[in-house]
Amino acid sequence: MKEIEAVLQHMTQGVYVVGVVDGDKTNAFTAAWVMQVSFAPILLAISINPEHYSYQLLKKGGVCSVNILSREQTHIAAHFGQSGIQDKMAMGTWAPALTGAPILQESLAYLDCKVSHETSAGDHRLVICEVLEARKLNVGAAMQYADTGSMDNSTELF
Ligand SMILES: Cc1cc2nc3c(=O)[nH]c(=O)nc-3n(C[C@H](O)[C@H](O)[C@H](O)COP(=O)(O)O)c2cc1C
Repeated sequence: MKEIEAVLQHMTQGVYVVGVVDGDKTNAFTAAWVMQVSFAPILLAISINPEHYSYQLLKKGGVCSVNILSREQTHIAAHFGQSGIQDKMAMGTWAPALTGAPILQESLAYLDCKVSHETSAGDHRLVICEVLEARKLNVGAAMQYADTGSMDNSTELF
C-alpha cells in the first residue's frame, strides 16, 4: 500500500489554502484535491473531508477562496494542514474577496468561488464551486503536492 501512496504523490497536483467564511467565523485549510472541472460556467471541484471544521463553514457560508501557494510556502501548507489550533488565521494577511471569503495576500493568486452543489466521494465530499473572480497577487512557481512529502500523513491512512 505504501507504493500506492508513493505513486499518488507523482500525480501532478497543486497545493492550495482554501479560505471559508460563515458570518463572523473564518477558517482555512490546505488542500491538494482541487481541480477545474468545467469551462462554462468555470467550475472547480474541491474534495473535502466532512469532519473538517472548514466543511461546516463551507456548507453554511456557501463561498470559498482557493489560494495558490508557491514552492517556498511549505510552512503555510503545514500550518493550514493542522486542525483545532488556536488562532489558525493569525498566519498570513487576509482580506475579504467579493464573496466575503478570506483571501491570503501572500499567495500567488486566488479564485473567489460560490458553492454550486456537492456530492459524496468515498470518505470525502466533492464540493463543486463556481469561480466568480480570480486575481494574480505575487510572482513565483506553484507548489506541487509532491513537494509536501508526508505532511498530510497520507502514508498512515493506507
Ligand atoms: C499537503 C496537504 C494536502 C491536503 N489536502 C486535503 C484535501 O484535498 N482535502 C481535505 O479535506 N483535506 C486535505 N488536507 C488536510 C487538511 O488540510 C487538514 O485536515 C486540516 O487540518 C483541516 O483543517 P480544519 O479542521 O481547520 O478545517 C491536506 C493537508 C495537507 C498538508
